[in-house]
Amino acid sequence: MPPDHDLHALRALAVELAIGAGAILVDRLDRARTAVDTKSSSTDMVTEVDRASEAFITGALAERRPGDGILGEEGSRRDSETGVRWVIDPLDGTTNYLYGYPAFSVSIAVEVHGEVAVGVVRDPLHDETFSAVRGEGAHCNGIPLRVAGPPTLATALVATGFAYQPETRARQAAVLTHVLPRVRDIRRAGSAALDLCAVAMGRVDCYYERGMGPWDFAAGAVVASEAGAWVGNLDGGPPSSDIVVAAPPHLAAALRELLKAAEA
Ligand code: IPD
Ligand code: CA
Ligand code: CA
Repeated sequence: MPPDHDLHALRALAVELAIGAGAILVDRLDRARTAVDTKSSSTDMVTEVDRASEAFITGALAERRPGDGILGEEGSRRDSETGVRWVIDPLDGTTNYLYGYPAFSVSIAVEVHGEVAVGVVRDPLHDETFSAVRGEGAHCNGIPLRVAGPPTLATALVATGFAYQPETRARQAAVLTHVLPRVRDIRRAGSAALDLCAVAMGRVDCYYERGMGPWDFAAGAVVASEAGAWVGNLDGGPPSSDIVVAAPPHLAAALRELLKAAEA
């Protein structure tokens, strides 16, 4: 493998950048409610901090990996000359961040020839760094992660999230009326990247969400799947912006069926 595709080196750099960006988020937390713009809807916010975090990450990549591609939520785009592309959510959980609600993260995935090979999610307030290299397992602060889960979906704690568009939210609320009576309970933490890491940690059992950007789930999905979770779509195929479903393998088929019945 050529040195620029050394997955351990890519993970080390992703961890370094996610920790650095996370420090920017924490440093500016007191100023979070200033300089707020909206994006796709009146509830989809972006702050100067989202942009500063992305600029920190992309600036470092321009110096250290100038030929790599970039896809950043806040608009950074660069074509790859190396086969490597960085998929970045510089602040996942912006609404939480604005309120000082302690669930936000930096999410960095590294694709090699179009496949996510490395995922890093940094929760700076709790000093947790989740990381995974495809085929080599997932870790939190160096400790290996392995999903377990309850015997049935009826006793599973299920995380989900909601899109920013009101009409999509109305449909997601309808889906919940079908799901909620059939599981232990629902959690809506507000950071998709952390939701997927929560599956990996066993802090929730399952997760599903429709309509995300690749930066929301790319890193978390590889962390969850390397921790042993099944991660895919409703038909058993790969996760995508359409829908992401994550569950311990023995609950995955039942969760997909439940979501299909709910017309998720
Ligand atoms: C959002 C969060 C949220 C999820 C939304 C995402 P943002 O990302 O991950 O949990 O439900 O779908 O858009 O806007 O905070 O980066
Ligand atoms: Ca996000
Ligand atoms: Ca974001």
